[in-house]
Amino acid sequence: MFSPRSAYLHIPFCHRRCYYCDFAVVPLGDRAGGATGQVGSASIAAYLGLLQREIASSASGPPLATVYLGGGTPSLLTPGQVGELLDALQQRFGIDAGAEITLELDPASFDQQRLIGYLEAGINRVSLGGQSFDDAVLQSLGRRHSGADLAQAIDWMAWALGSGHLASWSLDLIQAVPTLAGTTTGGEIEAWRSQLQRAIASGAPHLSVYELTLEPGTVFGKQHERGLLSLPSDDLAADLMELTAGELRGAGYGHYEISSYAKPGHASRHNRVYWSGAGWWGFGMGATAAPWGHREARPRTRQGYGAWMEQPATDPSGPGVPFDERLLVGLRRREGVRMAALLEQVAGLAPEAATAAANELAQRLEPFRQRGLLRIVGQRWQLSDPEGLALSNAVLREMLSWWDRARAAQPPTASGPPSPET
Ligand SMILES: C[S@@+](CC[C@H](N)C(=O)[O-])C[C@H]1O[C@@H](n2cnc3c(N)ncnc32)[C@H](O)[C@@H]1O
Ligand code: SF4
Repeated sequence: MFSPRSAYLHIPFCHRRCYYCDFAVVPLGDRAGGATGQVGSASIAAYLGLLQREIASSASGPPLATVYLGGGTPSLLTPGQVGELLDALQQRFGIDAGAEITLELDPASFDQQRLIGYLEAGINRVSLGGQSFDDAVLQSLGRRHSGADLAQAIDWMAWALGSGHLASWSLDLIQAVPTLAGTTTGGEIEAWRSQLQRAIASGAPHLSVYELTLEPGTVFGKQHERGLLSLPSDDLAADLMELTAGELRGAGYGHYEISSYAKPGHASRHNRVYWSGAGWWGFGMGATAAPWGHREARPRTRQGYGAWMEQPATDPSGPGVPFDERLLVGLRRREGVRMAALLEQVAGLAPEAATAAANELAQRLEPFRQRGLLRIVGQRWQLSDPEGLALSNAVLREMLSWWDRARAAQPPTASGPPSPET
């Protein structure tokens, strides 16, 4: 697999949690803002410090072709803070001159001045979380913004696109929204058609239309458990989906992924990376990364993420993180891993077996050591910086194929089964 050319940065802060959302989110309250001195700014600054450190200690790779700042509500960051994150990526990887750099924005969390600031900081694509134009629906979803806020945000997007400051933008909508039991009035098809017409009239060159998923633990999930929600029938949900595809196709949008529609030339390059099998870097609380095809999810709470950033490379905490993922994460860091300890504590080998396995692996990787890509200093294994980190795929592939074979050949030991599920 080629080195990743894309990076996802997770900005977890929101004013409040919407009734349907189970993303890794930190609600700061409705008065929260990202500028210095406003509510929530200290939490945001502390988190950004961790994020900067994670980026700086990552393995490097070729310059990025797509960057995505998602959330949460990234528009709680100031343009200066967004610029600093892009600088950190620039320093660690470089960013291609024509890279697609996307920021998620929530209506009512930014104004035109702030939008201009983001564009000046390097953002060239926006994903706007509209969800609905209808105030009653927005309220029922627990959204903070109104239809008027969305209309205002759309005007700013149209201005930015028209004046050439923005390369593209996307509008998110949610379809098949549940209602409180007993309040269904019928007319859902016509109501949704009108939403689609407003979305088309917004001029958004890209639309993401998500069918509402009921997530356990959310307000909707709990209401559903108590029998308080009326969900659209499967037939209605299918009709709504068909209506969406038909209306948007008729308006010139291509349907290029299940929830994504784009005018020619406006498909999201970053979105496509997730589906194409190409790897991506991921940074931040709750972010999923798959730099070499193996998915690595970071802890979903601020405390968990902070502790994860502090832990030594061999810390066996984080039950369920298998050896191969721990190895990939550890070797992406400059400090590397203590291989024998990792084999013992994470893979569950007995101490002598772990030492023997580390020696065997070291012999196998001797050619990489000789080329200066890998350093073994005492017990600590590190990819050299920058050559080893840049060419890390070859080294890691070799290690993982060794591990797959060793695991298949070895029976469970007394101190624990050497299986990826440990
Ligand atoms: C995680 S949000 C981040 C963007 C921004 N904070 C917002 O809410 O607009 C990305 C998109 O995921 C969608 N989404 C989140 N939870 C969902 C759910 N349970 N079902 C369907 N769509 C959902 C929403 O449309 C949202 O715009
Ligand atoms: S949908 Fe967006 S604004 Fe609402 S809680 Fe989730 S991330 Fe935050």
